[in-house]
Amino acid sequence: MGNPAKKRVTAPAVRAMKGAQRIGMITAYDFPSGKIADAAGSDIILVGDSLGMVVLGYPDTLSVTVDDMIHHTRAVVRGVTNALVVGDMPYLSYHVSVEESVRNAGRFIQAGAQAVKIEGGKPTRIRTIEAILDAEIPVMGHIGLTPQSVNTLGGFKLQGKNVDDARRLIDEAIAIEQAGCFSLVLECVPTELAQLITEKISIPTIGIGAGLHCDGQVLVFHDLLGLYDAHTPKFVRRYATIGAEMKSAIETYLSDVREGRFPNDAESFHMGTTEDVKRLYGDAVVVPMPKAN
Ligand code: KIV
Repeated sequence: MGNPAKKRVTAPAVRAMKGAQRIGMITAYDFPSGKIADAAGSDIILVGDSLGMVVLGYPDTLSVTVDDMIHHTRAVVRGVTNALVVGDMPYLSYHVSVEESVRNAGRFIQAGAQAVKIEGGKPTRIRTIEAILDAEIPVMGHIGLTPQSVNTLGGFKLQGKNVDDARRLIDEAIAIEQAGCFSLVLECVPTELAQLITEKISIPTIGIGAGLHCDGQVLVFHDLLGLYDAHTPKFVRRYATIGAEMKSAIETYLSDVREGRFPNDAESFHMGTTEDVKRLYGDAVVVPMPKAN
């Protein structure tokens, strides 16, 4: 459990962390992951649409729906006491019309998130961000490698490598700041570009594959803990190998079941004496109980 004595992190509080403290953010997708991430002291917990890949097993994030996200957001929120919970708006939830985008963003807030995240910084996206902000919903921006654009980007690739692309990303970062976002995720961009953007804008940048100079960092829960090995980007640092530990624990359990070592007497319930059982069913049907080791 988080610390009930500690103040809840808010969107303005995250904004105020720029230059004062580095921001630690991680994704979570359900009650236990939210609870663990919160108890560990995360400033921000993102219910990321990466859940499409690491929890639902899709090859990318494009199949994730608003209903999927709301279901997982509600679960995470139930486990979090202190961190700011940000709901990641999935593909097609803010692409059709401004009105539909605001309504979808509102669903995250009604599910208990305190902010939403939106990918992209082109002018149409900025208008959508402004409308969501106008509905009193804090917005976190996200530029660079935006996984929902995987088909137009031609894959999960480093962004901002050439001067034109880098300049476009700087312009988008400034537009996102001016629109009123409280923070900005920079994904898979060169360290030097992320540093430049971080110095140029007044809101905190949170990097993933964007080097050390961002105001904060984010990693996917399953990547950090070694729970997902379908694809591990270069920028992931694995802090544990929980997946291997889980597999080994399940193997031990299965061998205990097959060898008759589980459950033992302390893990079982008893009715009393064999005489009590006989009184219930009569001698004929009493199955002799094996002696516990
Ligand atoms: O969906 C997600 O997990 C994300 C983070 C990688 C920033 O968008």
